[in-house]
Amino acid sequence: MTHRKLQPGKLVIASHNAGKVREIRALLAPFGIEPVSAGELGLPEPEETGTTFAENALLKAHASAQGSGLPALADDSGLCVAALGGAPGVYTADWAEKERFEGGPGRDWYMAMGKVEGKLAELGPDTDRSAYFICTLALAWPDGHQEVFEGRVHGSLTWPPRGTLGFGYDPVFVPAGRTETFAELDPAEKHAMSHRADAFHKLVEAVF
Ligand code: IMP
Repeated sequence: MTHRKLQPGKLVIASHNAGKVREIRALLAPFGIEPVSAGELGLPEPEETGTTFAENALLKAHASAQGSGLPALADDSGLCVAALGGAPGVYTADWAEKERFEGGPGRDWYMAMGKVEGKLAELGPDTDRSAYFICTLALAWPDGHQEVFEGRVHGSLTWPPRGTLGFGYDPVFVPAGRTETFAELDPAEKHAMSHRADAFHKLVEAVF
């Protein structure tokens, strides 16, 4: 399959999530790309109405490419827990959404991690705690061309949460072969093994 090459210059990071923008900037640093975030350009965040990671990543990438006239890169990612049938999956961010009575709107990642843990606890002490993070990266150009890449990292869930680095569900995710959570690992170490890095390596091979 031939992929369209990404030329040096501006690239919109089609995300309003500060943690993702920070990681994507770090991953793009070596490639002569000038990342500019959708937030900095004042681009609206489209509603994530898709039912798959790829659909949602493409929605975000196309919205930013159309809105800016520049190529745009979007990340749709989530946590899939084996014993929960792959949940929260595409709804990973929604599980953190606070209700009005909880002081919302806004997201509370400790509440979200607690929901996952609560559901695992209901299944009993011997429940399989394996899980993976998935990251789908979509690149879209203003003329409508698109490219999609997917990465994963396997591991297991721990409780209680540990560590203060990273973002989202990092404090409960222990990658396979390690004892630390993603929130305890140095960001460079997380970048070397994460689902985002895996998807990014595929993107780099294809478009740079
Ligand atoms: P969305 O891609 O905006 O739908 O959100 C996916 C959610 O998955 C994020 O807001 C995070 O909570 C979670 N997530 C994705 N990647 C990571 C990661 O690297 N660490 C921890 N949580 C993540």
